[in-house]
Amino acid sequence: MLRIAHLLEAQLRAAMERALPEAAQPLDPQLAPASKPEFGDFQANGALPLAKPLGQPPRQIAQAIVVQLKADPSFAELCLDPVIAGPGFINLTLRPERLCAEVAARLGDPRLGVPSVASEDAPGQRTAPVVVDFSSPNIAKEMHVGHLRSTIIGDCLARVLEFRGHPVLRLNHVGDWGTQFGMLITHLKQVAPEALDTADAVDLGDLVAFYRQAKARFDEDDAFQATSREEVVKLQGGDPLSLKAWGLLCEQSRREFQTIYDQLDITLSERGESFYNPTLQAVVDDLRAAGLLVVDDGAGCVFLEGVRGKDGQPLPLIVQKRDGGFNYATTDLAAIRYRFAAPPAGDGAGRVIYVTDAGQASHFAAVFQVARRAGWIPDGASVEHVPFGLVQGDDGKKLKTRSGDTVRLRDLLDEAVQRAEADLRRRLAEEGRSEDDAFIEQVATTVGLAAVKYADLSTNRITNYQFSFDRMLALTGNTAPYLLYAVVRIAGIARKGGDQVGATSGALQFGEPQEWALIRELLKLDGVIAEVETELLPNRLCSYLFELSQVFNRFYDQVPVLKADEPARSSRLALCRLTTGTLKLGLGLLGIPTLDRM
Ligand code: ARG
Repeated sequence: MLRIAHLLEAQLRAAMERALPEAAQPLDPQLAPASKPEFGDFQANGALPLAKPLGQPPRQIAQAIVVQLKADPSFAELCLDPVIAGPGFINLTLRPERLCAEVAARLGDPRLGVPSVASEDAPGQRTAPVVVDFSSPNIAKEMHVGHLRSTIIGDCLARVLEFRGHPVLRLNHVGDWGTQFGMLITHLKQVAPEALDTADAVDLGDLVAFYRQAKARFDEDDAFQATSREEVVKLQGGDPLSLKAWGLLCEQSRREFQTIYDQLDITLSERGESFYNPTLQAVVDDLRAAGLLVVDDGAGCVFLEGVRGKDGQPLPLIVQKRDGGFNYATTDLAAIRYRFAAPPAGDGAGRVIYVTDAGQASHFAAVFQVARRAGWIPDGASVEHVPFGLVQGDDGKKLKTRSGDTVRLRDLLDEAVQRAEADLRRRLAEEGRSEDDAFIEQVATTVGLAAVKYADLSTNRITNYQFSFDRMLALTGNTAPYLLYAVVRIAGIARKGGDQVGATSGALQFGEPQEWALIRELLKLDGVIAEVETELLPNRLCSYLFELSQVFNRFYDQVPVLKADEPARSSRLALCRLTTGTLKLGLGLLGIPTLDRM
């Protein structure tokens, strides 16, 4: 529907220019979707703000615009006669045959009317890559629910951007460097020296406990602390044995993270913090050369503009510690510089997106500001932090296990699948159905993981989100099972409808309000995708899919499909097909595969 909206907007603007030559340019038709279905498809509110400057009643202005609109043959082809409402809104209703033509076009279009950037403004020309920095757990620490949110949201955004035709770099900025490796390596060398020559001698279950042990020793034992510090220096100096131990720890973590990514069907390229090591000093040097670096109490800082601390003094971003070491911010500055730099020295990105918890908002604001002032963000490029809220338990407190420990992702995903399986078995028993184990396993896995993803994506990411297995697995409401069930329902109709489902498009005929309501909902897809692409809010897509399923269910409950006569039967089956196509596409962009039966 976006293309139609753009067309309509141009027609309106031209009509306004003809009707109101005395009005100041540029004229804005203020085209918006109709506030209620009975008002048609769109409304143009542009007459109202012109009343004052033109000294005319707004309805009179609207009338003049309408006269010009009706004189435009291309408008008359698109819309029925406009209606002026209220103080001077122009209500616009698309011609039914136009809507029909749109449905027919989508039935033969695998992209369902969503354009690809590749074909938009610059055909054949490669658009600049978009970097999506997401997931990004820390080595030797457990991936926690915050990383799960980042993983699910980041993957969805990457899928939407990819579908729109952008080259996307899905980067896993893992925390694989830093002083914590001093104590980890020291501990490893002491308690598991054999790990240094045997592969697979430690596994991450151990590695998290291992991290805790190393930390405890570091905090208590002065000698251990001193050795750890020396170990950091050795590692930074490239000592082979230290590097080997470091590589081993990374490899173990990586394998553990990968099982989660595999389970969730997430693709990521690892480019951890260590990747930027060789450039950290150059970053600081560049900042100095740009006149931004101030040495304050021995530390290299950039003072932030417009950010003041409690004492009213400007806040610094520290980029080099007193001991000469670098920190999280230095690495992020190096990363941003690299990502925007032209290839081969960088990624040549046009947009860089960071998906992390909202707690890192001020870190990213500071890094973005410094990078901008250093001239590392090219004109026209954008850099965005995509923050999200905390994951809370049912009780509104931080998510914990019953015994009070942090929840391990593996356990959480397993539990979702187990609960989905229990629900399924109960439902099968109630319905007197018997299914084999392969079916049960496939449905339970799909539903369980879909429920976790959808629950996360369907809430506005900025707010904290309450994790509840019961809610996310419910068959009713805005949940994955509800949407998956809608797809299954339509698959059932299609099976009964036979080949007819595919064979229409020429002779579509619609008459029922439920049909028009469904058509109008179906045609919103491109607008929703465009919105997710700019605003990076997956919940918009979820709300749309939920609304679409509800409109579909109303249609299917109130209008006969399989029992209807031709051409209604084929036309309605075509709507079923387009609905299922839209749901599958949308769920696919959320990272959720669909089922034919459940
Ligand atoms: N490793 C960080 C954490 O666990 C997230 C990194 C996000 N990405 C970045 N470029 N800083 O909190």
